Amino acid sequence: MTQDELKRAAALAALAYVADGIVVGVGTGSTANHFIDGLAARKDRIAGAVASSEASAQRLAAHGIPLLELNDVDRLPVYVDGADEIDGGMSMIKGGGGALTREKIVAAVADVFVCICDDSKRVSVLGGFPLPVEVIPMARRYVMARLTALGGLPRLRDGFITDNGHCIIDVAGLSITDPCDLECTINQIPGVVTNGLFAQRGADVLLLARPDGVMTITRSPT
Ligand code: A5P
Repeated sequence: MTQDELKRAAALAALAYVADGIVVGVGTGSTANHFIDGLAARKDRIAGAVASSEASAQRLAAHGIPLLELNDVDRLPVYVDGADEIDGGMSMIKGGGGALTREKIVAAVADVFVCICDDSKRVSVLGGFPLPVEVIPMARRYVMARLTALGGLPRLRDGFITDNGHCIIDVAGLSITDPCDLECTINQIPGVVTNGLFAQRGADVLLLARPDGVMTITRSPT
C-alpha cells in the first residue's frame, strides 16, 4: 500500500466515531482530506462540521457538508485530525500544514480527539519533524532567539501566512522528552500564538494504518 492509501484507510476508520446527529470537528491536511471525502457520504446524517482551517472549510463546503462556527456549537463530541508525529503517550507534533492554532482550539473543545495516521508518524521521541510555531510577525526575530536558546534551530517558513495572518517558524533539532513542559515553555514566549505540540490535549484514540490493517490505540488512563 502507498502512504496515501494508508492515510485513507485510517481516515475512513474514523467514520465509526461519527455518531448520527452530531457536530464533528474536522482537522487539516492530506489525511483529514480523506476523512472529509468519506464524511460526504453521510452528510445528511450529521448536524454539521466545524473546520480547523479555511482549506478544510472549502473542502467541506464543496461536498455540501453543513459548516458551523465553533462559537455557535454547544458541544463537539469528536475531533478527527492527522498528525506529523505521535509518540507512545499520545502527544503529537502538528502544524505541518500551518493550521495548528485553529486545530488546537477545536481540539480543546472536543470531548474525544481521534488521530488518524499512517504508521510512519509513530515515533518514540517527538522532534524528528521540525516543530511549527505560529508567531505574530513583529516578534519573529525575538522568538527565534528564544527558540535558539532552548536548543532548537528555528527557520522561518518562507512566504507562508497562516489563516490568522501570522508567520510560522519551524524548529528543527529538538529532542522532546517532556512534550507537556516544552509546550508550556514555548507558549510563554511573548509573540508566540501557539506551538504545534499537542501534549496537554493529546489524542484519545489513535487509528494507525499499517499494511496489515488499521490498529486502534487508546490513551491509557492517567
Ligand atoms: C495541519 O496543520 C497539520 O497539523 C496536519 O494535521 C498534519 O500536518 C498532518 O498532515 P498530513 O495528514 O497531510 O500528513
